[in-house]
Amino acid sequence: MHKDLEKILVSESEIKEIVERLAAEIDRDYQDKDWIMVGVLKGSVLFMADLMKAMKNDFKIDFVVVSSYADGTESTGRVNVLKDISQSIVGKDLLIVEDIIDSGNTLNFLVKYFMAKGANTVKMVTLFDKPDRRKVEVPVEYVGKVIPDAFIVGYGLDYAEKYRTLPYVGILKPEVYS
Ligand code: PRP
Repeated sequence: MHKDLEKILVSESEIKEIVERLAAEIDRDYQDKDWIMVGVLKGSVLFMADLMKAMKNDFKIDFVVVSSYADGTESTGRVNVLKDISQSIVGKDLLIVEDIIDSGNTLNFLVKYFMAKGANTVKMVTLFDKPDRRKVEVPVEYVGKVIPDAFIVGYGLDYAEKYRTLPYVGILKPEVYS
């Protein structure tokens, strides 16, 4: 375990089980659609890679980069698109891939943004959900695991751009960020 962590919250094997379950559900629901999986960088990168590999059906992929957090731990509520999707989404079904939903600001913004650009449907899959932190209600079709309000890092999730490459998810020691 990384020295900055208090404990491991979700192990590699649990992540694998979650990813396989979600991949099967999405495969079943999207098998007849011409659809695009849209990863929200950078946090979703490991989850999306594993999810894609676990899925049987073919689909297109794309990425957006948005920013609302700067280097702190609280959402500012303002979402900026730093890199937009790079293909037409008019009439397409989109599935947004997130590592975590916290305040809900990012997903709330993205759903409206893609619908305004002409998407047919915009649904969401998140690896983790922190409902205790929600400020905006957003419907999330696929949830990997509901987690408590602790500061977690690893498997794509960062603190000040660190810890993203850990293959598991752990709770950061408070002295690291306070
Ligand atoms: C994180 C996470 C989500 C968002 C969730 O991204 O990946 O996109 O925050 O929080 P919210 O529900 O409060 O909007 P972040 O802005 O930290 O960027 P990152 O993906 O590059 O880590």
